[in-house]
Amino acid sequence: MDINKVYALYFSPAGMTRKLATTLANALAESFGVPMETVDITSPAARETSYVFGAGDLVVCGSPTYAGKLPNKLLPWWKEKLTGNGALAVALVTFGNRAFDNSLAELCACLAGDGFHTVGAGAFACRHVFSDTLAAERPDRDDFAELAKLGAAVATRVAKANETPAAPEVPGSADAPYYVPKGLDGEPKNFLKAKPKTSEACTGCGVCVAVCPMGSIDPQDVTNVPGICIKCHACVRECPVGAKYFDDEAFLSHKAMLERDFQRRAEAKWFV
Ligand SMILES: Cc1cc2nc3c(=O)[nH]c(=O)nc-3n(C[C@H](O)[C@H](O)[C@H](O)COP(=O)(O)O)c2cc1C
Ligand code: SF4
Ligand code: SF4
Repeated sequence: MDINKVYALYFSPAGMTRKLATTLANALAESFGVPMETVDITSPAARETSYVFGAGDLVVCGSPTYAGKLPNKLLPWWKEKLTGNGALAVALVTFGNRAFDNSLAELCACLAGDGFHTVGAGAFACRHVFSDTLAAERPDRDDFAELAKLGAAVATRVAKANETPAAPEVPGSADAPYYVPKGLDGEPKNFLKAKPKTSEACTGCGVCVAVCPMGSIDPQDVTNVPGICIKCHACVRECPVGAKYFDDEAFLSHKAMLERDFQRRAEAKWFV
């Protein structure tokens, strides 16, 4: 099959998904000898646009795993604003070393519903945005080596195919429920309503306002978060003086549980 252009399309508040999706898309573009373009859907403004692809396009679609699935606030976007029109896709999810559970299956199902032909899929462990100790050095050399293998397998598969290749089988189910976060005591912890706090170190630079993927931080008063908070930690990670933080008890207990119970290495998995 002929490929004319490769895209890296991703939602990536804290940057890990962007890193992997663009690396994979660049490798694929190089192997086909075609240009690569990025479509970053992280900002609210970018998600107002609908994106339409077609035959000859190969789109690497990336999302983080939230509670074992796709971030639920993004689901309408994946289902309604993206049209494949027979374009090929690679589904890529990142996760913070606990598990990707059903996120890859859900992304593959969305892409099929949008009219893409998925020719490869992968789930890669990355630094957990909640923590500085959980998979802190991921993705590492071994992860990038696996990503390169996924790219090579996809390129071979596409080059050899006379007709549209069948979608790869991936673990999990698009219809499965969300993972319920547990605390140190093993009990479910609900921190859906938690929002970041702001310390006195804040200089009012406005970076947090610009990076919030939900547009939820008040530009006139950055200590105020009137909109929805998806706990993505973009504001915490990008604040130049470390002034943003979460102090919600249920959230902190979940974070501590993850740091206690999920230090073992979760390997990358890929499927063609
Ligand atoms: C609200 C939320 C829920 C998450 N749930 C999971 C999870 O179920 N399993 C997991 O391993 N990592 C989980 N993570 C970690 C992210 O998947 C991981 O840090 C990801 O690489 C972040 O992507 P980004 O850097 O592109 O934003 C969660 C992160 C957030 C913010
Ligand atoms: S990024 Fe940090 S310093 Fe800048 S306005 Fe936001 S909280 Fe304040
Ligand atoms: S306010 Fe919430 S949604 Fe916005 S950047 Fe911060 S953690 Fe993410």
